[in-house]
Amino acid sequence: MKLFPNVTGLLHGGDYNPEQWLDRPDILEEDIRLMKEAGINTATLGVFSWAVYEPEEGVFHFEWLESIINNLYTAGIYTVLATPTGARPAWMDAAYPEVMRVASNGVRNHHGVRHNHCMSSRVYREKAAILDTKLEEHFGNHPGVILWHISNEFGGECYCDLCQNKFRNWLKEKYHNNIEELNKAWWTTFWSHNYNSFDQIEAPMPNGEMSVAGHRLDWRRFTTWNMTDFMKWEIAVLRKNGNKLPVTTNFMRMYRGLDYEVMAKELDVIAWDSYPAWGNDEESLQRSFADVSFDHSMMRSFLPGKPFMLMESTPSLVNWHPFNKLKRPGIHQLSSLHAIACGSDTVQYFQWRKGRGSFEQYHGAVMDHVGRNDTRTFLEVKEVGEILKKLEKTEGSVIKAQTALLFDWNTRWAIEDLPGLSKQKKYDETCKEQYRIVRSLGVEVDVITPSIDFSGYKVLIAPMLYLLRPELAERLKCFVDEGGMLLTTYLTGYVDDTTLCYLGGFPGDGLMELFGLYTEEIDTLYPSDVNGIAFDEGFLEEAGVTKEVTKDAKITDFCEVLKVQEAEILGTYTKDFYKGTPVVTRNHYGKGDAYYVGARLDEAGMKAIYRALFATAEVTCFTVPEGVEYHRRTKDTLNFDFYMNETEEERTVALAADGRNLMNGEAVKGTLRLQPLETAVIESK
Ligand code: GLA
Ligand code: ZN
Repeated sequence: MKLFPNVTGLLHGGDYNPEQWLDRPDILEEDIRLMKEAGINTATLGVFSWAVYEPEEGVFHFEWLESIINNLYTAGIYTVLATPTGARPAWMDAAYPEVMRVASNGVRNHHGVRHNHCMSSRVYREKAAILDTKLEEHFGNHPGVILWHISNEFGGECYCDLCQNKFRNWLKEKYHNNIEELNKAWWTTFWSHNYNSFDQIEAPMPNGEMSVAGHRLDWRRFTTWNMTDFMKWEIAVLRKNGNKLPVTTNFMRMYRGLDYEVMAKELDVIAWDSYPAWGNDEESLQRSFADVSFDHSMMRSFLPGKPFMLMESTPSLVNWHPFNKLKRPGIHQLSSLHAIACGSDTVQYFQWRKGRGSFEQYHGAVMDHVGRNDTRTFLEVKEVGEILKKLEKTEGSVIKAQTALLFDWNTRWAIEDLPGLSKQKKYDETCKEQYRIVRSLGVEVDVITPSIDFSGYKVLIAPMLYLLRPELAERLKCFVDEGGMLLTTYLTGYVDDTTLCYLGGFPGDGLMELFGLYTEEIDTLYPSDVNGIAFDEGFLEEAGVTKEVTKDAKITDFCEVLKVQEAEILGTYTKDFYKGTPVVTRNHYGKGDAYYVGARLDEAGMKAIYRALFATAEVTCFTVPEGVEYHRRTKDTLNFDFYMNETEEERTVALAADGRNLMNGEAVKGTLRLQPLETAVIESK
């Protein structure tokens, strides 16, 4: 599906801050000339321009922006227009201290930095509304403006009185104004934490209440709700005169503080900012790519059927990692095409031109302080611009995965806050690891949140599904009943939506019936402890795996002691007092299968299980040599197969389909040789 009706092809551009250069018309003129040269067709404007728009309260200046947008448009460059609420002018903080956040220790911030407004402040909302209204009136119908970019990288929390009051009201509504309902949900009789009224409740704070999991979870949900409410306020202002431009905001990969599932529902387009290290001391280049693939897969899955936007990336280096190494030659092209391969329709940068001073003066940019168009970075960006033109046809195409991995912020938060068990909880890492293992078997994977309809997938992988949101268990049962394959692991279905443990056995809420077992105990191991698995031989045969391959498979961190009622036992523990008892099971349920993996099993073990599972589910597996990444985007009858060599050596791949390599126009058949870091994009019917 096309993201922007008036745009043809992929977008290439990034954050542009002409407001820093208004006294240098020569540079502003040069910018446009050089953008054209670099193949840039979009600029994100106004992200941090509030103090230039409104230098004093009630005094507005938009003429500078008007001429910039006009000049860009004349040169064929579209504008993504931001609302400037990510940072505030000094006059506002001085006049209205309530707009500044209060930290969790109860102390109000001083003026400074950014991304730190109180999302409950009426004053801030009103000031934002005045400015956003003017922006919409001036530029909302400009033919060059294609998208609203709401604020910037929403994040953080505020503990001011306004926010705390709002939290109490939010709780009142959630618990039907019935404090006993809340007391039950939070199990407050423990340690005599019962509340008599909603007025007694405070946000979780380091020197206050931090011991109630349900309370902490509700605060996190409230913060998401309040931030989303602020974002919706801005969107409503932009829409109040009937403006129909799509809206987005820029996400920060798997940011912990906000449930992106909730925010995504308010957006027309998903956009995110990607700043990995692209290979460092701890992580190989391939690992970095695998990691970012996960992020891209999550972004494309928030709004199914639509490409997403890579809103920010650096053409060279960043300034906020512990060490800020340059992207090595060739990495910029590969990482940019990687985003396209994973479903993005844009490659955008932070930033077009380095500012001379302040916090980001050494952050990478297309235009460096040296001001030349023959730098390594400029030339690499220009090359990406040329390639994106060659890939024009891929615009609007999407990835169609048959397998999804379930990732849930609520489960993530609940696991993080759960008191006890082990330090090695690693929910995020486990999801990423399972994603990587499945990808290594040549299977495409979407990363979805629970409210996404998963009925169209053949396989659903839901690691550590600790918290069950209402109706999720029922939907999982239906999924399997209708022929889906579900795999889950230890720590599944322990608590309900308010973090109360299920009674009568885990996994709760009816999932015991689906898996045909219950968990009696969970053993959390010392880091030096290792258990093993003995797979059923018939099962290994089914998986097409020899005994040799799994004989050293390791189990670490978590071991559940399972009581199987109906399921088939596929593997048993090899050690400890639960030696010989089940660890991996499969239950036929309706037309599908429900796999349960009761322990943290390593790659060798998991691969055997996935092989069997994908074979029964008839999932398309297309394997490429190690170090090559493959994705297929499709549109109508066209396929675009991306092969990316993420290694420093040559690789030869057997093609999924013969066709034409859009990178160089050559027809290719059978196999293809890829140079180090080379990408091929094969179009076929
Ligand atoms: C974020 C912000 C940008 C910039 C970059 C630097 O993504 O949105 O304004 O600060 O980081 O990497
Ligand atoms: Zn506040």
